[in-house]
Amino acid sequence: MVVKKTEFILLHVFWITSLINLKKIFISSDHAGFDLKEQIKKKFAKKYSFQDLGTNNSKTSVNYPEYAHKLCKKVSKSTKNIGILVCGSGLGMSMAANRHKKIRAAVCYSVKNTKLSRLHNNANIITLGSRLTNRNTAFKCIDAFINTKFEGGRHKLRIKNI
Ligand code: RB5
Repeated sequence: MVVKKTEFILLHVFWITSLINLKKIFISSDHAGFDLKEQIKKKFAKKYSFQDLGTNNSKTSVNYPEYAHKLCKKVSKSTKNIGILVCGSGLGMSMAANRHKKIRAAVCYSVKNTKLSRLHNNANIITLGSRLTNRNTAFKCIDAFINTKFEGGRHKLRIKNI
């Protein structure tokens, strides 16, 4: 009985620790990207902890730069931070995000271009177009984005020169 209680406590400690240790990802969208943002959170809920910065519905039309800037301020605080921005095309979000000095936002639409955005450009934000990229491709891109490491080397200076 005592052993069972200890096992139970240990399991809970393990579970709570793993929840705390989940990688935190900032995520935001405008109204056009809202549904995909929610699907992304649901799909990756067990793997990552999302800090959702809005918007909170698809009915009210909002302006994407507001959400891009909000998220970029958070991501800029640490080189370890990464973010996901979703709008209709992925373009407006990336344009707004790339105004921030410490941000390298990449519009991703395939696993290949996503991997390159990490390997060569050390992108810290992935932007997705919900009207142009289907849900499964978006999921694959996110997976590739999170799990691909920057190559460094010759790319370091190039990034510095941006
Ligand atoms: C909203 O209609 C749309 O313009 C926006 O989501 C985005 O695609 C802009 O780049």
